[in-house]
Amino acid sequence: MNEPTLRPASLEDAALASDLMTAAYPDLPEDPVLIRYRWEHPRDGWSDARFIAERQGKPIAFVAWSHGPWDQVPERHCHVEVLLDRARFEPDVLASLWSWVAGEAQADGARVLEAYAVEDERDVLEVLARVGFEPDRTEKVWELDLVAHGKRLRDEARAARSKANAAQVELTTLAQWTDPDSLRKVHALFELTRLDIPSTYPILPETFENFVERVEAPDKRHDRYWVALYGGDPVAASYLRFPPVRGKVWTGYTCSHPDHRGRGLARAIKLQTLAQAIELGVPTVLTDNDSENAPMLHINEQLGYDRRPGFVSLLKRVQT
Ligand SMILES: CC(C)(COP(=O)(O)OP(=O)(O)OC[C@H]1O[C@@H](n2cnc3c(N)ncnc32)[C@H](O)[C@@H]1OP(=O)(O)O)[C@@H](O)C(=O)NCCC(=O)NCCS
Repeated sequence: MNEPTLRPASLEDAALASDLMTAAYPDLPEDPVLIRYRWEHPRDGWSDARFIAERQGKPIAFVAWSHGPWDQVPERHCHVEVLLDRARFEPDVLASLWSWVAGEAQADGARVLEAYAVEDERDVLEVLARVGFEPDRTEKVWELDLVAHGKRLRDEARAARSKANAAQVELTTLAQWTDPDSLRKVHALFELTRLDIPSTYPILPETFENFVERVEAPDKRHDRYWVALYGGDPVAASYLRFPPVRGKVWTGYTCSHPDHRGRGLARAIKLQTLAQAIELGVPTVLTDNDSENAPMLHINEQLGYDRRPGFVSLLKRVQT
């Protein structure tokens, strides 16, 4: 086999990287502006490395690893990525890239490697099994047809808003909510609720500064970021991410405060984002959630989402 060569990816490679990611799974395109923004705003304390793999001078894959601060990650798990252009797919090339990135992550102190693939990427999953990765969890992915379900969803959004108002809960957006502490309050809500997302490893805290960078990213807008307010505090939130150049519109996150669960507020606030997307003429939206997140599965089923191939996360233990 003609072994690929790897070179570090610079900020100027963000567009190329997004092209390679898109070529690896064309049905879920990646946005060049968002990739660059993400690279420009790394998470505090995180370590990462990114590479472009080339063969005969032509870029064929995006390769990366990233992990949180080791003192906050006792298991020392590290995310590893290999996104090989479908047109260049060869099992041996893919296996060699996974082995290479595994070695790099291990050299940085990783003890467990975490990789992702889409459920229908049989050939990728076969290669991952060959190089020692085992399936860990599944993230369900769903798609909602806003054209077919538009009228019903708009009606449900209106009814949910009336019901919330009757319980003194206001459904509004960050743009409309004038509290000077609004972002701090939403950050606190997210930090609290993220602890309840089912996951194999604890979800690390996010600094307020990093949170603000994400809120201000080019795929989000304050007038499309929805919050449910009760007594001046956010008790539920949901927003959609609208990629500026290409890609699907996805739900970014939906949550409700533990003291207010089971009152229909998560569903109500998610419905506001969907009704807004319908107004904007968005034809379909995607959402994902862990396969063990029972209330979120229930909400998505009720809202009329259809299942798509999900994301499989796979683990490989390595020695240091
Ligand atoms: C998931 C989450 C947003 C749900 O919030 P919520 O305000 O309780 O949601 P709602 O009240 O609108 O709806 C919950 C629904 O799930 C149902 N439900 C709750 N627990 C359930 C379970 N174990 N199995 C099946 N259904 C369940 C409720 O009965 C309700 O349905 P109903 O109105 O038809 O009776 C909330 O638990 C949360 O913030 N979790 C942490 C963050 C998270 O996981 N977000 C999703 C990440 S993708």
